[in-house]
Amino acid sequence: MKLFTNKKKLQNEIKNTNNISFVPTMGALHKGHQSLIKKSVKMSNKTLVSIFVNPRQFDNKKDFFAYPKSFKKDKAILERLKVTYLYKPSYSDIYNFKTKNKIFLHPFSKKLCGKFRVNHFYGVVDVVNRFIEIIKPKKIFLGNKDFQQLFLVKKHIQKNGINTKVISCRTIRNKKFIAYSSRLKRLKKYENKKLVEIITILNDYKKKLIRKRIRHNFNYIKNKLLSAGAKKVDYVEIINLKSLKKPKVFGNNCNLFFAFYIKNVRFIDNF
Ligand code: PAF
Repeated sequence: MKLFTNKKKLQNEIKNTNNISFVPTMGALHKGHQSLIKKSVKMSNKTLVSIFVNPRQFDNKKDFFAYPKSFKKDKAILERLKVTYLYKPSYSDIYNFKTKNKIFLHPFSKKLCGKFRVNHFYGVVDVVNRFIEIIKPKKIFLGNKDFQQLFLVKKHIQKNGINTKVISCRTIRNKKFIAYSSRLKRLKKYENKKLVEIITILNDYKKKLIRKRIRHNFNYIKNKLLSAGAKKVDYVEIINLKSLKKPKVFGNNCNLFFAFYIKNVRFIDNF
């Protein structure tokens, strides 16, 4: 695996390659990332993984500084997975140029996390667009756990006619149904137990909504999550994945979307 920290050197290396697959990450790699990377390596000759904790997508400085880092471990994982290139840019490498594409934010950016994290999705789409302009990948791999991010990147790519295919990948969960997330690394053992309890409540709630065909009741589920140890609940919503509408009862093509905090660690998922 070749490591690059400078876009000019990276671009010089890949200038004659037109089939690069790209997996953007913020490091602290877990089984979810590994699954995206394995898929990319299987589907393509050359996989490029980036590690960049993007300050412009954090709405909270503390959260940015507390973001877990494990570069040595990450590098070993990427080598084991036979990744071709690792790009670990500096802040200025990413932000010292004017982009060709105009950032397009679909109105879905205002919903769910967009209501609670000001400028978050602009920061995400902007940084992904910058990577795409630098690398010009044929494919980009993103996970369904961050459904909103995935959807918004797709819409930006479509709107700008960018020649990069978005490959959406399934969410990877542990035996307790917890989706892997870098932020999990910030939880202590007893907080992990709370997380398992909360996810179990949400999963049971979803099953009940389907089985009994009852209306979603945010205050009811919010209070249950708070009693189980959530510090704050931003939202719990049913979303139709095709229409992006919020039906009152759980129907076909729907998922339960949620965001909550344990301590000061924020979790999102949908299932
Ligand atoms: O999902 C993430 O880790 C980030 O939002 C991404 C896509 C790497 C952009 O910084």
